[in-house]
Amino acid sequence: MTYQVLARRLRPQRFDEVVGQEHVTRTLQAAIAAGRVAHAFLFAGPRGVGKTTTARLLAKALNCERGVGQEPCNECTNCREIGEGRAFDVLEIDGASHTQVDKMRDLMETVAHQPIRSRFKIYIIDEVHMLSQHSFNALLKTLEEPPPHVKFIFATTDPHKVLPTVLSRCQRYDLRRIGLGELLEQLKKIARGEGVGLSDDALALVAREAEGSLRDAQSLLDQVLAAGEAAADEATVREILGAADRRLVIAVADHALGGDAAACVRDLAALHAHGYDPQRFCRDLLDHVRNLTVLRVTGDRQLLAELPEAEAEALTAQAERRSADDLHRFFRLLLEADEVLAAPARTVDPQLVLEMAVLRLATLPPLLPVDEILRRLEALGAGSAGGNVAAGSPAAPKSVKVQSGERLWEQFLARVREEKVSLYLALAGGKLVSADETSIRIGIENEALRRDVSRPETVARLGAVPCRPSKRGTRRSAARGAGPRKRSRIRWCRRRSRSSAVRYAASVTATSAERSGR
Ligand SMILES: Nc1ncnc2c1ncn2[C@@H]1O[C@H](COP(=O)(O)OP(=O)(O)OP(=O)(O)O)[C@@H](O)[C@H]1O
Ligand SMILES: [Mg+2]
Ligand SMILES: [Zn+2]
Repeated sequence: MTYQVLARRLRPQRFDEVVGQEHVTRTLQAAIAAGRVAHAFLFAGPRGVGKTTTARLLAKALNCERGVGQEPCNECTNCREIGEGRAFDVLEIDGASHTQVDKMRDLMETVAHQPIRSRFKIYIIDEVHMLSQHSFNALLKTLEEPPPHVKFIFATTDPHKVLPTVLSRCQRYDLRRIGLGELLEQLKKIARGEGVGLSDDALALVAREAEGSLRDAQSLLDQVLAAGEAAADEATVREILGAADRRLVIAVADHALGGDAAACVRDLAALHAHGYDPQRFCRDLLDHVRNLTVLRVTGDRQLLAELPEAEAEALTAQAERRSADDLHRFFRLLLEADEVLAAPARTVDPQLVLEMAVLRLATLPPLLPVDEILRRLEALGAGSAGGNVAAGSPAAPKSVKVQSGERLWEQFLARVREEKVSLYLALAGGKLVSADETSIRIGIENEALRRDVSRPETVARLGAVPCRPSKRGTRRSAARGAGPRKRSRIRWCRRRSRSSAVRYAASVTATSAERSGR
């Protein structure tokens, strides 16, 4: 006997067997019960989440010989034939094969014919977004006023590519990605049914790899079973699926957060040696940083409920190590790397791209909150005026001051970049000229940029770069309007200089809002 793959063997035969799409199946059943069945449906959703399955179930429920019901009987000829995709009155059409308008016109001519053996003539058009504009138009005429014995069921993974005129004539149902927990439950059930002993960790790995698609989960499980590994553990399954070790993702993140560049390079070499795909690893890292950010911002582990306990534990510790702003920057840098890796015309070795991106993360200095930068700027000024820097620290010599001014300028720039990239690009053309008691002077050589930056709106915008006090208490009181709101004030001044190329300088002055009277 030939082996039938799980995904085909396990296709749900009843609405209540469809996993994770109750919001759709219940509504459909209610409509059937109330006798209010629309004439056109659109099932939208990612791949392998039950669109075709639900379309066939609806067709069965409408054409079952035992009467229109909330569940098909699955025994009558109609139900069986629909299940096998060979019912005369239920036409399953692939949108990709009907891109030519002639084919669609031909199909629409059959609409006038009465069904042969059933109540309804049902057209299931899969991947409907693939139809050409002309085909859509040919379909539209019929869709507007179909005869009462006709039902249309469309399915698509790309609803935004379906013409709005078609969309507006359908009842739309969005099927969702299936949650990790639910996938895992299903896989456990299937493994039990198949009589194979796979560890929970191994099944969790399969579930994670499936990315919300139950069909993919079933196919991957098939792949594992085909390898003949009864009682396979996570490591074996990982090898079969070619998935990266989660521990490696956590380790790279850990070393990047800790600024250990050498360890990062070693991790990535191990990754390379295992033959993992750099782009996929980059996506895993993106996912990981997303989780860290969620933890950092909300502190709510429940939001990562689907992660194994040990992993959630490790993530919580990592999230504590950097500010949310830093994590956002990590994410953005990885996203840039991912774009490069995904570019079709890429010529650079993907491993190099990944390595450079991770090294960038490992060497990224922590971003200071604006108010902290302002505080330090103020301290810098106060320090040289009265030798009164932060308590305990000696007054800094001038060169050190310029140096730290440079760092502060970089940090200020980074902050501006967070807020407004266009502004940042203009400002980044500037050079630090000097840092003294109350200001940092920046020279901008390029005439056009200088003009751009000196526009009053720009200066005003710079002044409005918001400060987020870092301590929770102050944040809360600021939100209530009670705390002091600090702003950076940027003053630009013309500075004529014969020898220097820098002819225009800006002083970035740190003042508190109260002091500047704002
Ligand atoms: N929600 C679900 N509940 C139960 N099984 C499902 C579900 N989604 C997918 N499956 C399994 O995956 C198989 C394929 O599902 P189906 O053909 O309905 O997916 P689809 O959404 O139409 O995918 P595609 O976008 O690739 O056409 C089914 O036979 C079934 O085994
Ligand atoms: Mg389908
Ligand atoms: Zn039936």
